[in-house]
Amino acid sequence: MSYYIGVMSGTSLDGIDVALTTFDQSGTFQFVTAQTFPFPEQLLVKLQQLISTQQYDLQQLGEVNVALGQLIAQSVNQLLTTAQLTAKDIAAIGSHGQTLFHSPEGSYPFSLQIGDANTIAEHTGITTVADFRQRDIAAGGQGAPLVPAFHQALFNSATEDRVIVNIGGISNLTLLPSSTNNDSVIGFDTGPGNVLLDYWTQLQLKQPYDQAGKWAASGQCNKQLLTQLLNDPYFKQAAPKSTGRELFNQTWLETKLTSCQQDLSPADIQATLVELTAQTIADDIKIYPHSSSTVFICGGGAHNDYLLSRLQALLTDKKVTTTEEIGLHPDWVEACAFAWLAYRTLNKQSGNLPAVTGAKHPVVLGAIYPS
Ligand SMILES: Nc1ncnc2c1ncn2[C@@H]1O[C@H](COP(=O)(O)OP(=O)(O)OP(=O)(O)O)[C@@H](O)[C@H]1O
Ligand SMILES: [Mg+2]
Repeated sequence: MSYYIGVMSGTSLDGIDVALTTFDQSGTFQFVTAQTFPFPEQLLVKLQQLISTQQYDLQQLGEVNVALGQLIAQSVNQLLTTAQLTAKDIAAIGSHGQTLFHSPEGSYPFSLQIGDANTIAEHTGITTVADFRQRDIAAGGQGAPLVPAFHQALFNSATEDRVIVNIGGISNLTLLPSSTNNDSVIGFDTGPGNVLLDYWTQLQLKQPYDQAGKWAASGQCNKQLLTQLLNDPYFKQAAPKSTGRELFNQTWLETKLTSCQQDLSPADIQATLVELTAQTIADDIKIYPHSSSTVFICGGGAHNDYLLSRLQALLTDKKVTTTEEIGLHPDWVEACAFAWLAYRTLNKQSGNLPAVTGAKHPVVLGAIYPS
């Protein structure tokens, strides 16, 4: 049995998730424990600045890259202490890093994550795998989403089709055929998950997020604004597709609010933003013929009761629940996926699903920074 650690800090900038996992001789994955480590205020502000202004001072960029690498290493070391393990016990860390810019189209497609893996390997003494997205992009793919391959490995059923939806800052879905079915897995980013909900809550309530969606539930969805929001060409674009805060951000929302020309209360806007997330996910599930009867939610959005109730209302013929029902708590799926991807890389196994990312072929993902 070998231990692997997965590290994820997603688009929401809500902290660094670190998951400890094991793989047995036959490659069977097991979750052991996990923890979220908040960003120190100073680093958080710098990351927010880099991501929202997209203005890069090269010295600042270089420093934040190393500062984040140090923080990831400290977080891993802390989890090891809690789990009473040492670096020697761990085969590898899979570190996603913090996305600064995701641009998978055009002549020079790229996706840029920071959190220096040299620093992580040096400060933990553990082999670190990072830069997972770039090889898939080099092979003609979107470099995203990468988690559907892990969803398939962990959540596939011999008897039933399943839908897995990760609602992080951005939301992505995986349509998982039963293993007796020869259909390939479908997966793509549906659009905003929590990113606009968080932005609006932070602006209006000065809170990091709308706890359980209670504020949204106090408002009314406005049809006219919802139509404006749904008008974005991204929602009609065929898969493979992936997106991020480069598109769905403050500027995007403000432009839509201005063109809507309605005098709406902040709570009504929040309710409409929940409807946008719920409806784009539900519509994308309905597009594909799929016999699944259950939709399993993971990511922080699983804690938003109002969002889940809206999804359930839009998906009348399916049960909406969380991945806890099929063995993994919704908070740790993404971090575990990067432990799994590191395992694949060290074992020279491909980590991408070409049917999902659009890559020309399966590739071994990531760069290895030895201990
Ligand atoms: N109790 C809660 N009530 C409502 N929303 C919550 C709650 N807890 C977490 N969330 C939402 O979940 C978000 C964090 O989710 P998660 O960590 O999955 O996203 P992420 O880090 O952006 O990951 P990804 O890579 O999938 O984009 C928070 O920013 C918040 O919007
Ligand atoms: Mg997160």
